[in-house]
Amino acid sequence: MENKAPERKPRVLSLIQPTAVPTIGNYFGALKNWKAMSEDYDCLFGVADLHAITVRQEPAMLRKQSTEMFALLLANGLAPEKSIVFMQSHVPQHSQLAWLLNCYTQFGEASRMTQFKDKSQKHADNINVGLFSYPTLMAADILLYQANFVPIGADQKQHLELTRNIADRFNGIHGNTFTMPEPFIGKKGAKITSLQDPTSKMSKSDPNPKASVSVLDEPNVIMKKFKSAVTDSEACVRYADGKDGINNLMTIYSCCTGKSYEEIENEFAGKGYGDFKVSVGEAVVEELRPLQENYKRIIADTAYVNECMAKGAERASRLAQRTLDKCMKKIGFKQI
Ligand code: TYM
Repeated sequence: MENKAPERKPRVLSLIQPTAVPTIGNYFGALKNWKAMSEDYDCLFGVADLHAITVRQEPAMLRKQSTEMFALLLANGLAPEKSIVFMQSHVPQHSQLAWLLNCYTQFGEASRMTQFKDKSQKHADNINVGLFSYPTLMAADILLYQANFVPIGADQKQHLELTRNIADRFNGIHGNTFTMPEPFIGKKGAKITSLQDPTSKMSKSDPNPKASVSVLDEPNVIMKKFKSAVTDSEACVRYADGKDGINNLMTIYSCCTGKSYEEIENEFAGKGYGDFKVSVGEAVVEELRPLQENYKRIIADTAYVNECMAKGAERASRLAQRTLDKCMKKIGFKQI
């Protein structure tokens, strides 16, 4: 009988910055899909702590938040014996490949990144070169592992397109080196908006605490935030242009319950926004309950978290080195 090597499952990779507790935007746009994909794919998930320092961070806080984000990924059901869960700074190959890719990225294309433009405006006193080359580090994260799919929210799509351009350019010059990654953007939940300004993205860094719901908010806090969500004056739960607040709440409810917009419209026909907001709040509380319970248990077990981090770094590093070696050889670095 022919002894064929088992085919590799498609590889999935994604990272999240540890700059604050994730919002339900991060959860529905990314984390929930990560968990679902971890069942069927060969997955790597990481904490993008190197990306975090493009904005000034307080050292003790960065350390604490990075550990907490790592524990949260484990709490999200990313079993470390199945998926590789790692801290970006523990795998030095990310920074090494990022430098190489900087030399295959045009100043003009990096200048067009909308997130760079937004962040430069927000942090006008610290427009550092790292902020500018942020997407080449993200490209390195993805290309190092030959990822096939990258589950992200809509705001990261442009960075993924740049990653594909860089991969294409490098492959064109040196021959096939990097797998071409595809974005995986969920049909619903790819852009959860602010509860106070439903035309803008829900963001971890929003200074208005009522605008975003964190995945670790207490149930009573979650209920309060949904009750004060901005809606409109029509008092009819339906998905339509110009009803950004209600559309957002319907999306969140749909992500939690799996119901279609039509089913939600029927469920709330004749009912006011008050009832609807309470139902959305309750659905979110239930959705987050397992994550919150797991998190409390895992964050209290420092030895377990540290052990998972060390294992994740070791496994990720082994894979990353293969691509880095291949890439350096192709560029022409002398190997020893
Ligand atoms: P970050 O940390 O800003 O966000 C993590 C993930 O959450 C998604 N997201 C949202 N999705 C829906 N609605 C929202 N309001 C919302 N806000 C955020 C983001 O799209 C993202 O998928 N640069 C990345 C981190 C990163 C990365 C990578 C991602 C670093 N290296 C490699 C993928 C692959 C970032 O800052 O995500």
